[in-house]
Amino acid sequence: MKKQLNSDTDPYVDYYPDRHRVYQFGWSGTGWHHLDKAGAPIADWAHNERGDYTGGHGVNASRTDAGQSLFLKSVGTTQPTTTQPPSPARYEAETAVCQGTVDSDHVGYTGTGFCNTTNAAGAYVEWTVTAAAAGAHTLTFRYANGSTGRPADVSVNGGVVADDLAFPSTGAWTTWRTVTTTATLTAGSNKIRVTASTAGGTANLDNLVITAAASPSDVVDVSTSDQLRSALANARPGRTIRMAAGTYRGSFLSRKAGTASAPITLTGPRNAVLINDGPSGTAPSCPAPTAGWDTGYGLWLFDAPYWNLTGFTVAESKKGIVLDNSHHVTIDSVHVHHTEEEGVHFRRSSADGVLKRSRIEQIGLVKPGYGEGVYIGSANSNWGCLGNSGGMDRSDRVQVLDNHLGPNVAAEHIDIKEGTQGGVIRGNTFDGRGLSGQNSADSWIDAKGNNYVIEQNRGTFTGPGTFVNGYETHNPITGYGCGNIWRSNTSDLGGVGNYAVYVSSTSKCSSAPNKVYASNTVSNARTGLTNIPVTP
Ligand code: GCU
Ligand code: CA
Repeated sequence: MKKQLNSDTDPYVDYYPDRHRVYQFGWSGTGWHHLDKAGAPIADWAHNERGDYTGGHGVNASRTDAGQSLFLKSVGTTQPTTTQPPSPARYEAETAVCQGTVDSDHVGYTGTGFCNTTNAAGAYVEWTVTAAAAGAHTLTFRYANGSTGRPADVSVNGGVVADDLAFPSTGAWTTWRTVTTTATLTAGSNKIRVTASTAGGTANLDNLVITAAASPSDVVDVSTSDQLRSALANARPGRTIRMAAGTYRGSFLSRKAGTASAPITLTGPRNAVLINDGPSGTAPSCPAPTAGWDTGYGLWLFDAPYWNLTGFTVAESKKGIVLDNSHHVTIDSVHVHHTEEEGVHFRRSSADGVLKRSRIEQIGLVKPGYGEGVYIGSANSNWGCLGNSGGMDRSDRVQVLDNHLGPNVAAEHIDIKEGTQGGVIRGNTFDGRGLSGQNSADSWIDAKGNNYVIEQNRGTFTGPGTFVNGYETHNPITGYGCGNIWRSNTSDLGGVGNYAVYVSSTSKCSSAPNKVYASNTVSNARTGLTNIPVTP
């Protein structure tokens, strides 16, 4: 489709340039989904037209069609058959059965008024609500009570779920508060009644909000490639996708977002192995999920923040694990090996990621110069594709902790790209055997970002391989490759490496110098710990 990007007078430009993709508005892939911005439902389409609602914000873009027309012959495999009300859903008392009067004389209510029941025991308000699925729900009643306590029984479909639920005084008829209780609702329509227990009637009732309780265990077990592919496509916040041991071949992609409080987990034992024999098809000019193109990546999260990836193995793929615009992804205890290019890539501003307790080896088998173990950000030459709207790939604050890298990681064990900042590289082991020397891959780490803390790592080098320094800084663009610090690292340069930490320019970082602390140690160096003055 075409779209004006910034103002109403802009030209219409191609947006979502994939003409085979189907954009379903108000659909999450499994259910009704209100269009939202950062999780907050938009109130109105007006002034919100320019938002991007794909990636879990109410526009499902996971399906493609062979046709290139708005008038499609088919739309994938599953049709949305029902629409469901959003959860939470708010039901006003003025639209419920109100044994009394609907009043509006006390300000602060929502909707057009509230229910003032007759002052008598047995007077009630009854809502008819719709639950998307059977199960536990929270019922939140908004009320005001300028009198003393007005207890009431809450019933669902005739059965009492809360006996004499307290509606204490709020101090004034214009002061509105909520009380909650939980109840099991059936799928579809439910009648929820609040019946006065005492002669005063109920408090004035304003509305009822129904929230489906998070399902206590939302676990999807998979044991075949097709099941895994479908589970990734249909993931939702809070869900755990649990892989059985076995080999999963093919292209594995998710575009589903978790949330901070309900991340999505993909987990499996070490002998659950993802293998992608691709790539195949024609790649678009910038990497994005495209019908007919298999990236060859072992696992790809695209616009999919808040995931946990734990335990499993990715092997024999073009690249290992690639995150694009997928922030807050934690990768724990995985094994990535035998890839043609890089092992784990935090890309397209995938900030706040963590890679820990993982093993990465035999990387860059086909393109040694692109065989980084861990790749944070993108080279500035690729920002046209992989940069964010401000231009850079800001895969910031990535933490690489307690991993074992090497041997035979052909390029840098960790390549910290210009444009990124604030990461932590701690507690890792670098086994430099097999560093290729291609594309200047002759150190465990190239530090081209800013303000990284690199500490408590242990590096070694023995041949075969090309090794010049343990760690190097570079300044490919002005203002980057600065302010990084090295503390308490142990470096054994095997009689081959010059310095543990080689700082290529101090003048380019005069306002934010790189610092190498005296707590670092070096052994078997040809020259020493570092080429700059050591910070005490
Ligand atoms: C007052 C108040 C009503 C309330 C009633 C009551 O009349 O204005 O809104 O319902 O007291 O005690 O129930
Ligand atoms: Ca009343």
